[in-house]
Amino acid sequence: MKAVVYRRYGMPDVLGLADVPTPVPRDGEVLVQVHAVSLNASDWEALRGKPLYSRIGGPFRPRHHILGSDIAGRVEAVGLNATRFRPGEDVFADILTHMGGFAESVCVPETALASMPVGMAYEEAAALPQAGAIALQGIQDKGRVRPGQKVLINGAGGGSGMYAIQLAKLNGAEVTGVDNTEKLEFMRSLGADHVIDYTREDFTRTGRTYDLILDLAAHHPVAAYKGSLLPGGRYLYVGGSVATLLQVLLTGPVLGRAEGKKIRILAVRQGAQHLAPLVELCQAGKIATVISRRYRLSQVSEALRYLGEGHAQGKIVVIVK
Ligand SMILES: NC(=O)c1ccc[n+]([C@@H]2O[C@H](COP(=O)([O-])OP(=O)(O)OC[C@H]3O[C@@H](n4cnc5c(N)ncnc54)[C@H](OP(=O)(O)O)[C@@H]3O)[C@@H](O)[C@H]2O)c1
Repeated sequence: MKAVVYRRYGMPDVLGLADVPTPVPRDGEVLVQVHAVSLNASDWEALRGKPLYSRIGGPFRPRHHILGSDIAGRVEAVGLNATRFRPGEDVFADILTHMGGFAESVCVPETALASMPVGMAYEEAAALPQAGAIALQGIQDKGRVRPGQKVLINGAGGGSGMYAIQLAKLNGAEVTGVDNTEKLEFMRSLGADHVIDYTREDFTRTGRTYDLILDLAAHHPVAAYKGSLLPGGRYLYVGGSVATLLQVLLTGPVLGRAEGKKIRILAVRQGAQHLAPLVELCQAGKIATVISRRYRLSQVSEALRYLGEGHAQGKIVVIVK
């Protein structure tokens, strides 16, 4: 089969389209013919080997040689003791811990798979898993956004932000989206009440405060985040610099406790099977999936470059079949 392979960390030109053996499903696994796979910041991070957490399991060379984690496709074959799906069924998944989606086929543990929502296109199903899980857990499960609350989403013009803005608005929040100049209009179109251009203004220095800060691109000292929270507010670190991650981990639980502020890491529970509430909203037309660009498998390196250069608004999807 064809797959996009890399063997060292670097810029997108380290990726190459290659012929590799089609994997064979092991115990409890399912072989999925990939129809569509979406790009995530985690693919870019694993390609570059930056931040350092993206090198877990592969400090010098990549642990997985094929990137791509959010897939939608059709079951081709099932391994021993895999009983939940049959060949011909349409499925989708986030396979962040295994990767391998930038390929014509991939083996996936059946526990990671969910049936594709009826009537949903492969490209939308591929856009949803990782970004949708971050938004759902960040805004609803852990963010607990209620009507009238002030929510700031940092990095809101990307994949997770696209869903997060819309979910926060549906929950009745006043939403501020932060991203680069190119994405301001896009965030407004998703429903953001206010937008901040991070290349011109630092939201931690405006004096404005929030009930929830969902941080998809954390680069500030943790004390700055604390200062931007209302009493009783929450800060959730999703992705960003390792320095901020460590600060949140080490000082978050105590910092702000006196004012009832919670500063935490959002460790996202993966699995398309947890996305039911978001899928329902998408199917009801209450939440839109915006795919800003589509590429072919042979163009993955171009697609990742576009994402890494900061142009992507919403999701980028690679159409494999
Ligand atoms: N915690 C977990 O369990 C977990 C699980 C999966 C993924 N993640 C992380 O989740 C994060 C978000 O993923 P995503 O797929 O939504 O990413 P994405 O689509 O790339 O969106 C991130 C957005 O943040 C913007 N940005 C970059 N630097 C910024 C800054 N300094 N201030 C404000 N915005 C900035 C980016 O714009 P530019 O284009 O200008 O760079 C981009 O629009 C990633 O870091 C990923 O590693 C965490």
